[in-house]
Amino acid sequence: MENRIKVNGLTFVPYLTADRIAEQVKRVAGEIRKDLTDSEPVFICVLKGAFVFASDLIREIGINDCTISFVRYASYEGTSTTGKVKQLIGLTEDLADRDVVIIEDIVDTGYTAVRMIEDLKKMGPRSVRFATLLHKPESSRTGFTPDYIAFSIPPKFILGYGLDLDGKGRNLRDIYVIEEEI
Ligand code: IMP
Ligand code: MG
Repeated sequence: MENRIKVNGLTFVPYLTADRIAEQVKRVAGEIRKDLTDSEPVFICVLKGAFVFASDLIREIGINDCTISFVRYASYEGTSTTGKVKQLIGLTEDLADRDVVIIEDIVDTGYTAVRMIEDLKKMGPRSVRFATLLHKPESSRTGFTPDYIAFSIPPKFILGYGLDLDGKGRNLRDIYVIEEEI
């Protein structure tokens, strides 16, 4: 197949094009806009992976009175989860009585999502919603289901559009999936 790429010695093939991603970002943005009418939400982008999705999604939602903030958690090494979630950058914003929307690149086991929601709820928000670009429902070890999902995908390793393999591939416009071993 053409357009295959190599990252850190692994081969990836095209999976979701930038056009398809843009379509689903638009749909999810519409859902969030509808649910947050008359709200001044706080959007929390989960670094690093969600920076591309969050940037497109927040602009597409188009609510002017919003605040944008960032947190950083990490659980992955290479192409698999360590099962341990570490908070690397925390929040400085006051979330008291605010409607919060967490924006994540991918929900895999759900450990990161559950941990984040637990941390944020301690800060007294009015509501916490969770938007993800990708969801791997078959990998769930927590039963957590995001409120907004752009794509549900099988449990294969992917990269591009913000997602990485050990720091590489975040700049790709399309999303790629790891090539099946034959
Ligand atoms: P969880 O805590 O297992 O749900 O993992 C979520 C985090 O793992 C995401 O924020 C990503 O950083 C990373 N991750 C999970 N699956 C992939 C993948 O297929 N490609 C790149 N990163 C992934
Ligand atoms: Mg991540």
